Amino acid sequence: MNTKIILANRPTGAIEDSNFDIKTEELPELKDGEVLIEINAISLDPAMRGWMNEGTTYIKGVGIGEVMRAFSAGKVIKSSNSGYKEGDFVSGLLGAQQYCIHNGEGLMKLDVTNDNLTHHLGVLGMPGMTAYFGLLRKGEPKAGEVIYISGAAGIVGSTVGQIAKIKGCTVIGSAGSNEKCKYLLEECGFDHAINYKTENIDEKLKVYAPNGMDIFFDNVGGETLDIALANLAQGARVVICGAISQYNDMANIRGPKNYMKIVTARGVMNGVIVFDYVKEWPMAVKEIAGWIEDGKMKPKEHIITGLKNFPSALKMLYTGDNFGKLILTV
Ligand SMILES: NC(=O)c1ccc[n+]([C@@H]2O[C@H](COP(=O)([O-])OP(=O)(O)OC[C@H]3O[C@@H](n4cnc5c(N)ncnc54)[C@H](OP(=O)(O)O)[C@@H]3O)[C@@H](O)[C@H]2O)c1
Repeated sequence: MNTKIILANRPTGAIEDSNFDIKTEELPELKDGEVLIEINAISLDPAMRGWMNEGTTYIKGVGIGEVMRAFSAGKVIKSSNSGYKEGDFVSGLLGAQQYCIHNGEGLMKLDVTNDNLTHHLGVLGMPGMTAYFGLLRKGEPKAGEVIYISGAAGIVGSTVGQIAKIKGCTVIGSAGSNEKCKYLLEECGFDHAINYKTENIDEKLKVYAPNGMDIFFDNVGGETLDIALANLAQGARVVICGAISQYNDMANIRGPKNYMKIVTARGVMNGVIVFDYVKEWPMAVKEIAGWIEDGKMKPKEHIITGLKNFPSALKMLYTGDNFGKLILTV
């Protein structure tokens, strides 16, 4: 039997529990070329709000009645595919469910050591790859430069900041609580942290980066993007990674007012989509794993257990109640 989370209807604003159903049904027989995967961990990602909408952006919206799309990781427990054997650990778009029958295409084989399966959904998975390629390919950090990261205490932001420190940058991050700011300073090695709920970002940036920022890595969008644009240094690179402050009302998205600063700063504003680098993921996974082993990077995870908690866990991303990479274990 397989228990799965189904998209029951589409949210109009914030996600509600009633947008999902939980269903249990019998698994079909395995066909030639297929593998049966027992899912151990499901990644909860801000992009899920967009996947619940109708239509296609960079990926098609999940259909009503379909299993909710999710990056998941687990173990092959039965295989009719010569590329995989029982006991292999894999990850991929396996969905929010207990088991997945898959044809093997696009699955990643995982090198699971020291019980680090959940890392493969976080710092060694899609969000870690977003940080790595977004920063290094679009931000192009150089030693001595100043970077500001919004949404800094999340898995993407904290990984960007820790890589930027490795590259010799001065790192400023903003997050939504004193506890998260303390984590940025004490555990991630950031130089400055701004609690955007109690402090004025513009005032703080002028103190921490008096000559402006060379890189702005944006996970939040909206007003934060506008403030950052106004504080760019000459030749700045703005990396648009996400805009979580806008995801619940994309029809009325707040566009940047201060975009003319890109002109006067001779800057660039660049978008990043992690899937464009899939072929290079193994190289990046190896490098990040090396940094973790050397103690240069400390991934933080927030684990919730039980498939039935999928809706309530997912909502935490949009209220800031998660602290670290949010993962649901099955
Ligand atoms: N382009 C790509 O290929 C790609 C791939 C993966 C992720 N992303 C984007 O990267 C960003 C971070 O993702 P993540 O997985 O690391 O999530 P995350 O940061 O672990 O979780 C989301 C965080 O966003 C913050 N937040 C929520 N609502 C906010 C608001 N209205 N204003 C400011 N902050 C708000 C909350 O932190 P606070 O407590 O600090 O408010 C929350 O903890 C998202 O925008 C996501 O869409 C892009």
